[in-house]
Amino acid sequence: MYPLRRNRRLRANATIRSLVRENNITPNDFLVPLFVVEGKGIKDEIPSMPNYYRFSLDTLQAEVKLLWSLGLKAVLLFVKVEDKLKDNRGTEALNPNGLMQRAIKTIKNTCPEMLVMTDVALDPYSIYGHDGILENGKIVNDPTVDVLAQMSISHAEAGANFVAPSDMMDGRILSIREALEDDGFIDTGIMSYSAKYASSFYGPFRDALDSAPAEQNNIPKDKKTYQMDYANRFEALRETEMDIDEGADIVMVKPGLPYLDIIREVKNEFDVPVAAYQVSGEYAMIKAASEKGWLDHDQAVLETTMAFKRAGADLIASYFAKEVVKLLG
Ligand code: PBG
Repeated sequence: MYPLRRNRRLRANATIRSLVRENNITPNDFLVPLFVVEGKGIKDEIPSMPNYYRFSLDTLQAEVKLLWSLGLKAVLLFVKVEDKLKDNRGTEALNPNGLMQRAIKTIKNTCPEMLVMTDVALDPYSIYGHDGILENGKIVNDPTVDVLAQMSISHAEAGANFVAPSDMMDGRILSIREALEDDGFIDTGIMSYSAKYASSFYGPFRDALDSAPAEQNNIPKDKKTYQMDYANRFEALRETEMDIDEGADIVMVKPGLPYLDIIREVKNEFDVPVAAYQVSGEYAMIKAASEKGWLDHDQAVLETTMAFKRAGADLIASYFAKEVVKLLG
């Protein structure tokens, strides 16, 4: 008798499909990136990120309350720094009354249980748009790491639950962990961007923060001396292993969809939670194609979100988080 097995039986209707579904999406899967700007009453749409906004501290409060009411419990903060406050060394990043520090406090005052994660890197503060300090045309590792450790302390002092270094300097996780421990911040976690690739998919984010590397002579035009070469796979495992050894609580792979293979390998290899970042360019692609009527927006969003779960991501940083949770109903 042929065929003995008919696999379509398990796909015959929505009920059976839902019963045998291997992965599910819940609000607990998400980290919500938020862009914060100075000013009052600002909710500014980012041109290359339709339906995504920069918030001033007052409008941020309503947004955070809304996120919490939708079951979204973690935010990942980025700040747009005023040009006049930028320099080569990220001095403003250490200002206890800086925008990031005030944003952390604002969120904690508005919604104390919201988990606040903060971006740790110099690019929003750098006149050159680089994640580290520039000397003689090079991004210098160790002096940058010193600033990142101080920046992490400053975020912890303001009330951050996790710091999230996205800079890809060597040795920064150990330095940050030691600095946090020395200052008594034993409960402040580290989510490390462990395998972060030099990617063309970060463009809209750099628009959002006005943080693209400067177009000047003797300044590297890209981030390839610190972010990873997208041809590499073993290197991602090496980076991740080192970050875990240095004290990372959560590791991240970034970007997302083009790197699902790396997410799966990291998940198989290590036993710490793995985050994936569906980055700004991935968001922009789906928005642009669906604006043209070339994709069904909602279906494409749900499918890509599920792809991260299937690949093994425990957490997904995504600009779609709010929309996904609303679609789940
Ligand atoms: C910089 C940083 C970037 C992103 C997060 N942190 C951009 C970059 O490395 O140039 C990108 C996020 C996104 O594109 O959504 N430290």
